[in-house]
Amino acid sequence: MLRIWWCVYLVPALMLLCAAWGYLMPRRRLYPSPRPLTAERQRFADGQLRRMLWQFALAFAALGLLVMGSVRRLPSGAQRPIAYAVMLLQAVGAAAMVIPIERAIRERFGDAPAEQTVTERASAKVNLLLAVGEQRPDGYHELVSVMQTVDVCDTLTVRAHTGGGLELTCSNPDLPTDESNLAYRAAVKFFSYTGIENDGVSIELQKLLPMQAGLGGGSADAAAVLRALRQLYAPELPWEELESLAADLGSDVPFCVRGGTVLIRGRGERLAPLVPLPPCWFVLVKPPVSFSTRTMYELIDRHRCYDTSGADDMVTALSAGDLPAVCAAMTNTFQRVLPPDSEIFAIRARLLSLGALGAMLSGSGSAVFGIFADEESARMACAALRGTWPETFCGRSLPGRQAFSHV
Ligand code: C5P
Repeated sequence: MLRIWWCVYLVPALMLLCAAWGYLMPRRRLYPSPRPLTAERQRFADGQLRRMLWQFALAFAALGLLVMGSVRRLPSGAQRPIAYAVMLLQAVGAAAMVIPIERAIRERFGDAPAEQTVTERASAKVNLLLAVGEQRPDGYHELVSVMQTVDVCDTLTVRAHTGGGLELTCSNPDLPTDESNLAYRAAVKFFSYTGIENDGVSIELQKLLPMQAGLGGGSADAAAVLRALRQLYAPELPWEELESLAADLGSDVPFCVRGGTVLIRGRGERLAPLVPLPPCWFVLVKPPVSFSTRTMYELIDRHRCYDTSGADDMVTALSAGDLPAVCAAMTNTFQRVLPPDSEIFAIRARLLSLGALGAMLSGSGSAVFGIFADEESARMACAALRGTWPETFCGRSLPGRQAFSHV
Protein backbone atom coordinates (compact mmCIF):
# COMPACT_ATOMS: atom_id res chain seq x y z
CA MET A 1 0.00 0.00 0.00
CA LEU A 2 2.62 2.55 1.11
CA ARG A 3 4.88 1.54 -1.76
CA ILE A 4 2.33 2.92 -4.22
CA TRP A 5 0.97 5.86 -2.31
CA TRP A 6 4.14 7.68 -1.38
CA CYS A 7 4.56 8.50 -5.08
CA VAL A 8 1.26 10.39 -5.03
CA TYR A 9 2.82 12.93 -2.70
CA LEU A 10 5.97 13.31 -4.78
CA VAL A 11 4.82 16.33 -6.80
CA PRO A 12 3.38 18.34 -3.87
CA ALA A 13 6.40 17.39 -1.75
CA LEU A 14 8.73 18.70 -4.45
CA MET A 15 6.70 21.88 -4.67
CA LEU A 16 6.92 22.32 -0.88
CA LEU A 17 10.66 21.78 -1.05
CA CYS A 18 10.98 24.44 -3.78
CA ALA A 19 8.97 26.90 -1.75
CA ALA A 20 11.01 26.18 1.41
CA TRP A 21 14.20 26.56 -0.60
CA GLY A 22 12.92 29.94 -1.75
CA TYR A 23 12.54 30.99 1.89
CA LEU A 24 15.90 29.66 2.92
CA MET A 25 17.67 31.50 0.07
CA PRO A 26 16.26 34.99 0.50
CA ARG A 27 19.05 36.67 -1.54
CA ARG A 28 18.45 34.54 -4.58
CA ARG A 29 16.05 35.92 -7.12
CA LEU A 30 13.09 33.61 -7.56
CA TYR A 31 11.47 35.67 -10.23
CA PRO A 32 13.79 36.54 -13.11
CA SER A 33 12.15 39.64 -14.50
CA PRO A 34 12.72 40.53 -18.17
CA ARG A 35 13.24 44.13 -17.12
CA PRO A 36 15.21 45.51 -14.17
CA LEU A 37 12.99 45.91 -11.10
CA THR A 38 13.69 48.11 -8.13
CA ALA A 39 14.79 46.16 -5.07
CA GLU A 40 11.33 46.62 -3.55
CA ARG A 41 9.45 45.38 -6.62
CA GLN A 42 11.88 42.47 -6.96
CA ARG A 43 11.12 41.44 -3.37
CA PHE A 44 7.38 41.74 -4.08
CA ALA A 45 7.67 39.64 -7.25
CA ASP A 46 9.65 37.00 -5.35
CA GLY A 47 7.01 37.04 -2.59
CA GLN A 48 4.16 36.57 -5.07
CA LEU A 49 5.87 33.64 -6.70
CA ARG A 50 6.70 32.07 -3.36
CA ARG A 51 3.08 32.43 -2.12
CA MET A 52 1.73 30.84 -5.29
CA LEU A 53 4.11 27.92 -4.91
CA TRP A 54 2.94 27.35 -1.35
CA GLN A 55 -0.75 27.49 -2.30
CA PHE A 56 -0.14 25.22 -5.24
CA ALA A 57 1.76 22.68 -3.13
CA LEU A 58 -0.83 22.68 -0.35
CA ALA A 59 -3.74 22.34 -2.81
CA PHE A 60 -2.12 19.29 -4.38
CA ALA A 61 -1.32 17.74 -1.02
CA ALA A 62 -4.96 18.18 0.03
CA LEU A 63 -6.18 16.71 -3.26
CA GLY A 64 -3.86 13.72 -2.78
CA LEU A 65 -5.27 13.12 0.70
CA LEU A 66 -8.85 13.32 -0.48
CA VAL A 67 -8.33 10.90 -3.35
CA MET A 68 -6.36 8.53 -1.15
CA GLY A 69 -9.14 8.57 1.49
CA SER A 70 -11.78 7.50 -1.02
CA VAL A 71 -9.55 5.00 -2.88
CA ARG A 72 -8.68 3.12 0.32
CA ARG A 73 -12.27 2.08 0.54
CA LEU A 74 -12.07 0.36 -2.89
CA PRO A 75 -11.05 -3.32 -3.29
CA SER A 76 -7.21 -3.57 -3.42
CA GLY A 77 -7.04 -4.76 -7.05
CA ALA A 78 -8.51 -1.47 -8.26
CA GLN A 79 -6.09 0.70 -6.21
CA ARG A 80 -3.00 0.45 -8.38
CA PRO A 81 -4.48 1.94 -11.62
CA ILE A 82 -6.22 4.67 -9.63
CA ALA A 83 -2.95 5.55 -7.85
CA TYR A 84 -1.21 5.83 -11.22
CA ALA A 85 -4.05 7.96 -12.55
CA VAL A 86 -3.76 10.31 -9.55
CA MET A 87 -0.01 10.64 -10.07
CA LEU A 88 -0.50 11.39 -13.75
CA LEU A 89 -3.17 13.95 -12.89
CA GLN A 90 -0.85 15.64 -10.44
CA ALA A 91 2.06 15.75 -12.87
CA VAL A 92 -0.12 17.18 -15.66
CA GLY A 93 -1.70 19.62 -13.20
CA ALA A 94 1.71 20.75 -11.97
CA ALA A 95 2.98 21.30 -15.51
CA ALA A 96 -0.21 23.10 -16.48
CA MET A 97 0.01 25.41 -13.47
CA VAL A 98 3.56 26.59 -14.17
CA ILE A 99 2.60 28.53 -17.28
CA PRO A 100 -0.33 30.52 -15.80
CA ILE A 101 1.71 31.33 -12.69
CA GLU A 102 4.60 32.57 -14.79
CA ARG A 103 2.23 34.51 -17.06
CA ALA A 104 0.33 36.12 -14.19
CA ILE A 105 3.49 37.41 -12.59
CA ARG A 106 4.99 38.55 -15.87
CA GLU A 107 1.81 40.48 -16.62
CA ARG A 108 2.18 42.20 -13.27
CA PHE A 109 5.90 42.97 -13.52
CA GLY A 110 7.26 42.17 -16.91
CA ASP A 111 6.00 44.63 -19.49
CA ALA A 112 8.40 45.10 -22.36
CA PRO A 113 11.20 47.11 -20.80
CA ALA A 114 11.66 50.66 -22.02
CA GLU A 115 15.03 51.60 -23.45
CA GLN A 116 17.34 53.15 -20.90
CA THR A 117 20.53 55.12 -21.47
CA VAL A 118 23.50 55.67 -19.20
CA THR A 119 26.51 57.85 -20.00
CA GLU A 120 29.83 57.02 -18.35
CA ARG A 121 33.14 58.83 -18.37
CA ALA A 122 36.11 56.53 -18.90
CA SER A 123 38.92 58.47 -17.24
CA ALA A 124 42.64 58.06 -17.82
CA LYS A 125 44.96 56.67 -15.17
CA VAL A 126 48.60 57.39 -14.47
CA ASN A 127 51.01 55.38 -12.34
CA LEU A 128 52.46 57.58 -9.62
CA LEU A 129 54.57 54.56 -8.81
CA LEU A 130 55.14 51.40 -10.80
CA ALA A 131 57.58 48.81 -9.49
CA VAL A 132 57.76 45.69 -11.65
CA GLY A 133 58.98 42.51 -9.97
CA GLU A 134 60.00 39.20 -11.46
CA GLN A 135 57.88 37.15 -13.81
CA ARG A 136 55.58 34.67 -12.07
CA PRO A 137 54.95 31.09 -13.21
CA ASP A 138 51.71 32.29 -14.92
CA GLY A 139 53.75 34.65 -17.15
CA TYR A 140 52.60 37.85 -15.46
CA HIS A 141 54.92 40.07 -13.44
CA GLU A 142 54.41 40.82 -9.77
CA LEU A 143 53.55 44.52 -9.44
CA VAL A 144 53.48 47.19 -6.79
CA SER A 145 51.86 50.29 -8.16
CA VAL A 146 50.05 53.43 -7.09
CA MET A 147 47.49 54.46 -9.66
CA GLN A 148 45.70 57.77 -9.92
CA THR A 149 42.63 58.74 -11.95
CA VAL A 150 42.94 61.87 -14.09
CA ASP A 151 40.05 63.86 -15.53
CA VAL A 152 40.81 63.30 -19.21
CA CYS A 153 38.36 60.81 -20.61
CA ASP A 154 36.59 58.85 -23.29
CA THR A 155 32.80 58.97 -23.08
CA LEU A 156 30.57 55.93 -23.38
CA THR A 157 26.83 56.01 -23.96
CA VAL A 158 25.27 52.66 -23.17
CA ARG A 159 21.69 51.94 -24.25
CA ALA A 160 19.96 48.93 -22.75
CA HIS A 161 16.85 46.89 -23.72
CA THR A 162 17.19 47.81 -27.40
CA GLY A 163 15.81 44.43 -28.46
CA GLY A 164 18.82 43.80 -30.70
CA GLY A 165 22.13 42.11 -29.94
CA LEU A 166 25.32 43.66 -28.62
CA GLU A 167 26.49 46.58 -30.72
CA LEU A 168 29.56 48.79 -30.39
CA THR A 169 30.25 51.91 -32.39
CA CYS A 170 33.32 54.08 -32.05
CA SER A 171 34.19 57.63 -33.07
CA ASN A 172 37.68 56.43 -34.03
CA PRO A 173 37.42 54.30 -37.21
CA ASP A 174 40.83 52.71 -36.49
CA LEU A 175 39.44 50.90 -33.47
CA PRO A 176 37.79 47.48 -33.91
CA THR A 177 34.17 47.25 -32.81
CA ASP A 178 33.95 43.48 -32.44
CA GLU A 179 35.08 41.17 -29.65
CA SER A 180 38.68 42.25 -30.14
CA ASN A 181 37.66 45.52 -28.46
CA LEU A 182 37.92 45.27 -24.67
CA ALA A 183 34.73 47.32 -24.19
CA TYR A 184 32.80 44.74 -26.23
CA ARG A 185 34.36 41.88 -24.27
CA ALA A 186 33.43 43.64 -21.02
CA ALA A 187 29.73 43.55 -21.97
CA VAL A 188 29.95 39.86 -22.96
CA LYS A 189 31.69 39.11 -19.66
CA PHE A 190 29.08 41.03 -17.65
CA PHE A 191 26.17 39.05 -19.07
CA SER A 192 27.92 35.68 -18.83
CA TYR A 193 28.98 36.36 -15.23
CA THR A 194 25.63 37.64 -13.97
CA GLY A 195 23.52 35.22 -16.00
CA ILE A 196 21.28 38.14 -16.97
CA GLU A 197 19.78 37.87 -20.42
CA ASN A 198 21.14 40.41 -22.88
CA ASP A 199 17.99 41.98 -24.31
CA GLY A 200 19.92 44.33 -26.59
CA VAL A 201 22.74 46.68 -25.66
CA SER A 202 24.32 49.34 -27.81
CA ILE A 203 27.53 51.08 -26.78
CA GLU A 204 28.67 54.31 -28.35
CA LEU A 205 32.32 55.07 -27.64
CA GLN A 206 33.56 58.63 -28.05
CA LYS A 207 37.32 58.16 -28.09
CA LEU A 208 39.71 60.82 -26.85
CA LEU A 209 42.39 58.92 -24.94
CA PRO A 210 45.33 57.80 -27.07
CA MET A 211 46.04 54.09 -27.47
CA GLN A 212 49.23 52.27 -26.44
CA ALA A 213 49.95 55.20 -24.17
CA GLY A 214 49.96 53.62 -20.69
CA LEU A 215 46.99 55.80 -19.78
CA GLY A 216 44.65 52.82 -19.44
CA GLY A 217 42.29 54.00 -22.21
CA GLY A 218 41.07 50.53 -23.25
CA SER A 219 40.82 49.41 -19.62
CA ALA A 220 38.88 52.55 -18.67
CA ASP A 221 36.42 51.90 -21.53
CA ALA A 222 35.89 48.30 -20.39
CA ALA A 223 35.40 49.39 -16.78
CA ALA A 224 32.93 52.09 -17.89
CA VAL A 225 30.88 49.44 -19.75
CA LEU A 226 30.83 47.31 -16.58
CA ARG A 227 29.68 50.27 -14.47
CA ALA A 228 26.97 51.22 -16.95
CA LEU A 229 25.64 47.65 -17.21
CA ARG A 230 25.70 47.32 -13.43
CA GLN A 231 23.57 50.44 -13.16
CA LEU A 232 21.19 49.30 -15.90
CA TYR A 233 20.82 45.63 -15.01
CA ALA A 234 22.20 44.80 -11.57
CA PRO A 235 22.47 47.85 -9.27
CA GLU A 236 22.92 45.59 -6.27
CA LEU A 237 25.98 43.82 -7.65
CA PRO A 238 28.79 44.57 -5.15
CA TRP A 239 31.68 46.68 -6.49
CA GLU A 240 34.15 44.02 -5.32
CA GLU A 241 32.45 41.48 -7.57
CA LEU A 242 32.55 43.87 -10.51
CA GLU A 243 36.29 44.35 -9.89
CA SER A 244 36.98 40.66 -9.70
CA LEU A 245 35.22 39.97 -12.99
CA ALA A 246 37.11 42.97 -14.43
CA ALA A 247 40.42 41.21 -13.64
CA ASP A 248 39.64 38.64 -16.35
CA LEU A 249 39.58 41.42 -18.94
CA GLY A 250 42.98 42.96 -18.19
CA SER A 251 45.37 43.89 -15.40
CA ASP A 252 44.35 47.57 -15.22
CA VAL A 253 40.59 47.08 -15.51
CA PRO A 254 39.88 46.37 -11.80
CA PHE A 255 41.42 49.72 -10.81
CA CYS A 256 39.43 51.56 -13.49
CA VAL A 257 36.12 50.32 -12.07
CA ARG A 258 36.24 52.80 -9.18
CA GLY A 259 39.51 54.65 -9.66
CA GLY A 260 40.85 57.25 -7.27
CA THR A 261 44.24 56.86 -5.57
CA VAL A 262 44.85 53.15 -5.10
CA LEU A 263 47.70 50.83 -4.16
CA ILE A 264 47.82 47.90 -6.58
CA ARG A 265 49.51 44.58 -5.97
CA GLY A 266 49.70 41.18 -7.60
CA ARG A 267 49.05 41.27 -11.30
CA GLY A 268 46.82 44.32 -10.87
CA GLU A 269 43.86 42.68 -9.15
CA ARG A 270 44.65 43.41 -5.49
CA LEU A 271 43.44 46.92 -4.70
CA ALA A 272 43.80 48.97 -1.52
CA PRO A 273 42.56 52.57 -1.55
CA LEU A 274 45.00 55.21 -0.30
CA VAL A 275 44.57 58.71 1.05
CA PRO A 276 43.56 60.68 -2.08
CA LEU A 277 46.24 62.68 -3.85
CA PRO A 278 46.08 66.35 -2.81
CA PRO A 279 44.09 68.21 -5.52
CA CYS A 280 46.45 68.98 -8.41
CA TRP A 281 46.62 69.10 -12.21
CA PHE A 282 48.08 66.72 -14.75
CA VAL A 283 49.46 67.32 -18.21
CA LEU A 284 49.54 64.15 -20.31
CA VAL A 285 51.79 64.04 -23.39
CA LYS A 286 51.55 61.20 -25.91
CA PRO A 287 54.41 61.24 -28.43
CA PRO A 288 53.87 59.69 -31.89
CA VAL A 289 55.87 56.61 -30.87
CA SER A 290 53.81 53.86 -29.20
CA PHE A 291 54.98 51.14 -26.82
CA SER A 292 53.43 47.70 -26.66
CA THR A 293 52.89 46.59 -23.04
CA ARG A 294 54.07 43.07 -23.71
CA THR A 295 57.27 44.29 -25.42
CA MET A 296 58.02 46.62 -22.54
CA TYR A 297 57.72 43.76 -20.04
CA GLU A 298 60.07 41.74 -22.24
CA LEU A 299 62.54 44.64 -22.14
CA ILE A 300 62.50 44.53 -18.33
CA ASP A 301 63.11 40.77 -18.42
CA ARG A 302 66.00 41.18 -20.86
CA HIS A 303 67.65 43.74 -18.58
CA ARG A 304 66.60 41.76 -15.48
CA CYS A 305 65.77 45.19 -14.11
CA TYR A 306 63.31 44.28 -11.37
CA ASP A 307 62.20 46.60 -8.60
CA THR A 308 60.99 45.21 -5.29
CA SER A 309 61.47 48.36 -3.24
CA GLY A 310 57.76 48.70 -2.38
CA ALA A 311 55.63 51.81 -2.00
CA ASP A 312 56.33 52.96 1.57
CA ASP A 313 57.65 56.45 0.68
CA MET A 314 54.75 57.09 -1.67
CA VAL A 315 52.16 55.91 0.85
CA THR A 316 53.72 58.09 3.57
CA ALA A 317 53.78 61.13 1.27
CA LEU A 318 50.12 60.58 0.35
CA SER A 319 49.12 60.13 3.98
CA ALA A 320 50.84 63.43 4.80
CA GLY A 321 49.09 65.17 1.86
CA ASP A 322 52.53 66.33 0.73
CA LEU A 323 52.45 66.83 -3.06
CA PRO A 324 56.20 67.60 -3.51
CA ALA A 325 57.02 64.44 -1.49
CA VAL A 326 54.65 62.43 -3.72
CA CYS A 327 56.53 63.74 -6.76
CA ALA A 328 59.87 62.89 -5.14
CA ALA A 329 58.68 59.31 -4.47
CA MET A 330 57.57 58.73 -8.10
CA THR A 331 59.28 55.87 -9.91
CA ASN A 332 58.62 53.62 -12.90
CA THR A 333 60.60 50.48 -13.79
CA PHE A 334 59.69 50.82 -17.48
CA GLN A 335 61.29 54.25 -17.62
CA ARG A 336 64.54 52.78 -16.27
CA VAL A 337 64.91 50.37 -19.20
CA LEU A 338 64.43 52.99 -21.92
CA PRO A 339 67.47 54.00 -24.00
CA PRO A 340 68.93 57.34 -22.84
CA ASP A 341 68.13 59.01 -26.17
CA SER A 342 64.42 58.15 -25.90
CA GLU A 343 61.99 60.97 -26.70
CA ILE A 344 60.41 60.24 -23.30
CA PHE A 345 63.26 62.00 -21.51
CA ALA A 346 62.94 65.07 -23.75
CA ILE A 347 59.22 65.33 -22.89
CA ARG A 348 59.98 64.85 -19.21
CA ALA A 349 62.58 67.63 -19.27
CA ARG A 350 60.12 69.98 -21.05
CA LEU A 351 57.42 69.28 -18.46
CA LEU A 352 59.81 70.01 -15.60
CA SER A 353 61.07 73.19 -17.26
CA LEU A 354 57.43 74.35 -17.63
CA GLY A 355 56.86 74.07 -13.88
CA ALA A 356 55.87 70.43 -13.26
CA LEU A 357 56.61 69.31 -9.70
CA GLY A 358 57.35 65.85 -11.07
CA ALA A 359 57.16 64.05 -14.43
CA MET A 360 57.26 60.36 -15.30
CA LEU A 361 56.39 57.75 -17.91
CA SER A 362 52.85 56.45 -17.30
CA GLY A 363 52.49 52.67 -17.10
CA SER A 364 54.44 51.02 -19.89
CA GLY A 365 54.23 54.25 -21.91
CA SER A 366 54.56 55.92 -24.21
CA ALA A 367 52.67 58.82 -22.57
CA VAL A 368 54.46 61.01 -20.05
CA PHE A 369 52.63 62.89 -17.32
CA GLY A 370 53.59 65.98 -15.39
CA ILE A 371 52.05 67.07 -12.07
CA PHE A 372 51.25 70.74 -11.54
CA ALA A 373 50.13 72.41 -8.34
CA ASP A 374 47.60 74.71 -10.05
CA GLU A 375 45.35 74.85 -13.09
CA GLU A 376 46.90 77.93 -14.66
CA SER A 377 50.44 76.56 -14.89
CA ALA A 378 49.10 73.21 -16.14
CA ARG A 379 47.05 74.87 -18.90
CA MET A 380 49.97 77.03 -19.96
CA ALA A 381 52.30 74.03 -20.12
CA CYS A 382 49.64 72.09 -22.07
CA ALA A 383 49.32 74.86 -24.65
CA ALA A 384 53.11 75.13 -24.97
CA LEU A 385 53.63 71.38 -25.41
CA ARG A 386 50.81 70.96 -27.96
CA GLY A 387 52.99 72.78 -30.49
CA THR A 388 55.45 69.86 -30.47
CA TRP A 389 53.18 67.01 -29.36
CA PRO A 390 49.59 67.54 -30.57
CA GLU A 391 48.27 64.73 -28.39
CA THR A 392 48.71 66.65 -25.15
CA PHE A 393 45.92 66.82 -22.59
CA CYS A 394 45.27 68.57 -19.33
CA GLY A 395 43.01 67.51 -16.44
CA ARG A 396 42.68 67.56 -12.68
CA SER A 397 43.24 64.64 -10.32
CA LEU A 398 40.02 62.75 -9.54
CA PRO A 399 39.03 60.94 -6.36
CA GLY A 400 37.47 57.45 -6.53
CA ARG A 401 33.88 57.09 -7.71
CA GLN A 402 32.60 55.01 -4.82
CA ALA A 403 33.76 54.36 -1.31
CA PHE A 404 35.64 51.10 -0.90
CA SER A 405 33.79 49.02 1.64
CA HIS A 406 36.30 46.21 2.08
CA VAL A 407 38.87 48.26 4.04
O1 C5P B 1 46.60 42.03 -18.42
P1 C5P B 1 46.90 42.76 -19.68
O2 C5P B 1 46.13 42.21 -20.86
O3 C5P B 1 46.78 44.23 -19.56
O4 C5P B 1 48.44 42.47 -19.98
C1 C5P B 1 49.04 42.67 -21.24
C2 C5P B 1 50.40 41.97 -21.25
O5 C5P B 1 51.26 42.62 -20.32
C3 C5P B 1 50.32 40.54 -20.77
O6 C5P B 1 50.11 39.67 -21.84
C4 C5P B 1 51.67 40.32 -20.15
O7 C5P B 1 52.61 40.01 -21.16
C5 C5P B 1 52.05 41.67 -19.63
N1 C5P B 1 51.82 41.82 -18.18
C6 C5P B 1 52.72 41.23 -17.29
N2 C5P B 1 52.53 41.40 -15.94
C7 C5P B 1 51.50 42.12 -15.47
C8 C5P B 1 50.57 42.73 -16.34
C9 C5P B 1 50.77 42.55 -17.70
O8 C5P B 1 53.67 40.59 -17.71
N3 C5P B 1 51.36 42.27 -14.14
